[in-house]
Amino acid sequence: MGLSVVSGISEAKDYLISTPKTSMLITATPGEKSKFQYYGSRIEEADIPGIYASGLAFDKESYPVFGLNTPGEKAMAVSHPDGNMTLDLVVDRVKQYSVDDGDVTEIVMKDQVYPFVLRQYFKTYSGSDVMTTWVEVDNDNKKPITLYRFASAFLPMRRNDNWLTHFHGFWGGESTQEQERLTNGQKVVANKDGLVNTESDNPSFMLSMDGEPTEDAGHVFGGALAWTGNYLIKMDVHSTKFDMSAGINEETSHYVLDPKSTFRTPEFAMTYSTEGKGGVSRAFHRWARDHKLHDGNKEHDILLNSWEGVYFKVNQKGMDEMMQAFSAMGGELFVMDDGWFGNKYPRNSGSSSLGDWEVCREKLPEGIEGLIASARKNNIKFGIWIEPEMANTKSEIFEKHPDWIMRVNNRPLSTGRGGTQIVLDLTNPKVQDFVFGVVDGLMTKHPEIAYMKWDDNCSVLDYGSQYLPADKQSNLYIDYQLGLKKVLERIRAKYPDLVMQACAGGGGRVNYGMLPYFNEFWTSDNTDALQRIYLQWGISNFYPAVAMASHVSADKNHQTGRTVPLKFRFDVAMSGRLGMEIQPKDMNDADKAFASRAIAAYKGIRPVVQFGDLYRLMSPYDNKGVASLMYVVPDKKRAVFYAYKMNHLINMVVPTVRMNGLDPDKMYKIKDLTPVDEKRPCALDGKTISGKVLMNEGLPMASLLNKEYSSLALELEAAE
Ligand code: DGJ
Repeated sequence: MGLSVVSGISEAKDYLISTPKTSMLITATPGEKSKFQYYGSRIEEADIPGIYASGLAFDKESYPVFGLNTPGEKAMAVSHPDGNMTLDLVVDRVKQYSVDDGDVTEIVMKDQVYPFVLRQYFKTYSGSDVMTTWVEVDNDNKKPITLYRFASAFLPMRRNDNWLTHFHGFWGGESTQEQERLTNGQKVVANKDGLVNTESDNPSFMLSMDGEPTEDAGHVFGGALAWTGNYLIKMDVHSTKFDMSAGINEETSHYVLDPKSTFRTPEFAMTYSTEGKGGVSRAFHRWARDHKLHDGNKEHDILLNSWEGVYFKVNQKGMDEMMQAFSAMGGELFVMDDGWFGNKYPRNSGSSSLGDWEVCREKLPEGIEGLIASARKNNIKFGIWIEPEMANTKSEIFEKHPDWIMRVNNRPLSTGRGGTQIVLDLTNPKVQDFVFGVVDGLMTKHPEIAYMKWDDNCSVLDYGSQYLPADKQSNLYIDYQLGLKKVLERIRAKYPDLVMQACAGGGGRVNYGMLPYFNEFWTSDNTDALQRIYLQWGISNFYPAVAMASHVSADKNHQTGRTVPLKFRFDVAMSGRLGMEIQPKDMNDADKAFASRAIAAYKGIRPVVQFGDLYRLMSPYDNKGVASLMYVVPDKKRAVFYAYKMNHLINMVVPTVRMNGLDPDKMYKIKDLTPVDEKRPCALDGKTISGKVLMNEGLPMASLLNKEYSSLALELEAAE
C-alpha cells in the first residue's frame, strides 16, 4: 500500500502517500484547509516529525482557490450563479482506497457557503514511482456555474538554483530539448492550438532542484500533463517562493458547468528522482508501459510505411511490390498511408477527400481485400492510415453535412492543408458516431486490419461550434477533447487488439492524454537520422522507446536533403521502434542485404530496446561531437549500446563514453549488431569487458567513430 494516515504526529491529520522511492505528505483535517507539506524522496512515518522540525514542510494550501486573500497564483476560480466569484473551501472528509492498478487518496472539500464540492485526488500506481493528481468539481446549484481557472496540480517548490528542462517543438523539430535556469518572474510552457498540442512544447518538463541538471545525479522533479488539448504549465518564481501549476489552458475556455454535472481535470503525473534526469525518465517509461500506453508491454512489429515511398501515388501493384520487398527483408507489417480513398474526389493531394472513407476503386480496383490478400501472400500484416477527425471542403461529407464542421456561420471559413482542410465538430454526438464509424466500418469489413495510423494535420481554425448553444461556445476546446476521448474509448472497448499509432503532422500529439488509447506515436515527419538524434533524445525524457516510431528513410532525406550512410540510419532507428519509410525499389542489392541483417539483429534485441531501462550517456545537445545512449534489462544481463558521430573535423577531440546501468561485477561479451561488412565487424566485436571497466572507464570513441556519420550499435551479453 502506498498510503498511510498518521495521527498524533501533529494536531492535524497527516496523510503520507508513498511510492517505492517517493513520498508526498498532505495534512487534511475536517473543517480546515487542506495543506501540502512535502513531496520528494521517500520518507517513512518516523521521518515526519523531522520534516516539520527542519522547516521542510510547506504548510500551504494543497489547492488554493480564488476570491478571499486574492493575491498570488491560484489553482481554481469560478463564478457562482449569483455572480459571486469567491470560493472558500475546507476539508469535509478524506477517503483512501485501492483500485485495480493502485491506491487513491481523495480529499473532499466543500465551500462554506455555496453548494460547491471539490475532490482532490492523489493516486499511486502499483510498482511505479509516478503518482498522479487531479480534481473533480460538482455543481450542486440549480443553475450553471462558470469555471475560469482549473489547474490539475498546484505545487509549491523549494527556491534554489532551479533549472527547467522542457521540450520545444515545431513541425520537423518536435521535442527539441531546452534547458534554462529559472529566474524571478513567470515561465510558461503552453499550447493554444486546439488539436496539435505538442508542436509548440510538449506538456512535460523537469525541474532540477539543485543546479544545472545531470543525467545521473541531483534532485529532479518530473511532471507531465495527461491532456491532448490546450494546456498551461506555469512556474511562478519569486526570490523567496516558487509555485508550479499545470492544467488545461483556460484562455478562451471558460467552462460553463451545468447543474448536477461534474468537471474533471486531466491527471497530472509526477515523479521525484535523486538520480538526476535519468531517474525521472526511467520512472516515466515504466509507468507508461505498465499503466498508460495501450498494451505497453507487448512487442511492436517492424513496419514499412508507404508515405515517403509513394506519397499519394497508391495502387494495388505498387503496394504489393512494397510488401513483397519488405517481407523479403524480414519486415513484419506494411502500412498503407494517405492516398487510398475517395471516389467522387479521389485523394491525390492534401486538398480533397478527407471524410470520404471509401476505397478509391480507380486506384485500388481489388479494394482493401486485394491489399489484405497481398499481405497474406507475402506473410506480412496489413495496416492503414486514416485522419478521421477531418474533412475537406472538396469532399462528399462536407457536401452532405455542412453543419458537422467547426465554423462561425456569419464569417468566411478558414481552411488548412491544401487550402481546403476543415475540422469536424467532435462536440456533436452525431460526429462522434461518424468518427467511431470510420474505424468500426473498416474493421467490420476487414477484421484482418492489424494496425491504424490515426493522423491529424489541422489545428482548430475557426472558433465556432454549430452544435454547442450560444451560451456554451466557450466550452468548445474542452468539449472537443471530451468528444474525442469518448470516441477513442468506444474504439478501444471494441477493438482492444488493433494496434494504433497517434500521429499529428508528425509528432504533434505525443502526450499522456492521447497515448492511453494508442500503442505508439509517430515521432516526427522529419526522418533525417542526424536530426532524429536530437528529437528522439528530447522525446526519451518522458516517453518510452517501445512507443517511439523511428523509421529508416531515403538516402537523400526528403526533409533536410542530407545524405547519411544506411548503417547510421539504421543505428538511429534501431534505438526506438524500428520501421522503414522508403521505396524498396530505390534500394540496391547491397542495401537490401544490409537492411535484412539489421532487421534480423533488431529482432534479437527488440525486448532490450522496447522494455529495457534507458541510460542517456552523452547528449547531442552538449556538442561534444558524439551522442550516446543505452538500454539495459532489469536483471542487467543484456544491454544495447549506441554511439553516433555528430560532426567530423580532422583535429577534433573525440570523447570517451562511459556506460551506465550495468552490473560492475558481470563480464559482458560485445557484439557488433550492424557491421557494414559482415566479415569486418568493429574492433570491439567478440571482446569481453567487465561492467566495472565499461562504466568507470568507458570506451574511447576516437578509433571507433573515425569517419563522418560513423555509428555503433553494440549488444552486450553477460557471461554466465
Ligand atoms: C502527416 C504524417 O505525419 C505523415 O506521416 C503522413 O501520414 C501524412 N500526414 C499523410 O498525409
